[in-house]
Amino acid sequence: MPRVLSGIQPSGQLHLGNYAGAIRQFLDLQDAGNEMFVFVASYHALTSTRDPEVLRGNIRQIVIDYLAFGLDPKKTAIYVQQDVPEVTELAWLLSCVCPMSWMEKAVSYKDKLAKGISANVGLFTYPILQAADILAVDADVVPVGRDQVQHLELARDMAARFNEEFKAEVFKLPAYRLAAEAAVLPGIDGEKMSKSYGNTIDPFQEEKPLRKRIMAIKTDSLGVSDVKNPDTCSVFQIFRALAGKEDQRTVDLARRYREPGADGFGYGHAKQALFELLLDHFGPARQRRAALMQDPGFIDQVLRQGAIDARTQARIVTDRARRAVGL
Ligand code: ADP
Ligand code: TRP
Repeated sequence: MPRVLSGIQPSGQLHLGNYAGAIRQFLDLQDAGNEMFVFVASYHALTSTRDPEVLRGNIRQIVIDYLAFGLDPKKTAIYVQQDVPEVTELAWLLSCVCPMSWMEKAVSYKDKLAKGISANVGLFTYPILQAADILAVDADVVPVGRDQVQHLELARDMAARFNEEFKAEVFKLPAYRLAAEAAVLPGIDGEKMSKSYGNTIDPFQEEKPLRKRIMAIKTDSLGVSDVKNPDTCSVFQIFRALAGKEDQRTVDLARRYREPGADGFGYGHAKQALFELLLDHFGPARQRRAALMQDPGFIDQVLRQGAIDARTQARIVTDRARRAVGL
């Protein structure tokens, strides 16, 4: 069975974009019987976060949310990055073969510079640490959202370069995997939904504020009797990403946009439909999450076992890498 690895930074609460782009794939791959490693990329978050209490809380919450969404610790090793110290050693070994020019062209760093934010060295070498996460467990497949493709290409290039320079098959070359409907999910302002833009929808929010949040999604100002284009509407895009393109509810909703009929069909109706879809889709996850929040002992146990599984694998790869370089 292929080995799958992925992770998410604890730089804030998970949102629908993370679910659509990444977590749903984790669940599909888990259910297909792959060997799974899913972790919380705590070190990566340190390139931007500065509040230890907030970071601790976010790390914990992401683990709870992974479990609530349906990751099963019996099938998936769930761990936090700092519990697998081999990863930082591998990051150093990789950094010694990675050309500066590869990092200089990496988008996450270039974007920061373009915004006039002064980048730290951690942000500059972020893709190296990410490559170490992946290569540490000999992952075959890495499910991610579209914005991670460059990082995955770099990971593959670094693995190949390392093997070539040390003339040894140390690292396995990983492939990335995008969600079937790999569109970037828009946030409530129509831009990419992202923790850093304050435009996210949290599927675990209480019903009332959740409904309010959905009602706040930006639309154009067409009225109930106007014909509308579903494809350019964020409400519809989110609906379609969750329910699926072929789903009857999606087909019906698209038709209402195009044929509002005598009673009319406005964005308020579309938003109500999205709200109901969310409650339906995430009902079981919301219940599981409430129970998990009451069981910190279980979370500790999951992380302990996940770290053992990930480290066992990372030790094998790190020994291989040490031997190859002459340590
Ligand atoms: P954020 O942009 O909110 O900080 P991350 O960079 O931590 O999110 O992304 C975690 C995972 O979720 C990545 O695989 C990323 O590609 C995916 N992802 C994030 N936002 C979206 C989105 N709006 N649509 C689809 N996938 C997304
Ligand atoms: N960079 C990823 C993100 O922002 C998080 C991440 C860190 C990751 N290490 C990884 C994703 C390894 C996949 C594999 O979402």
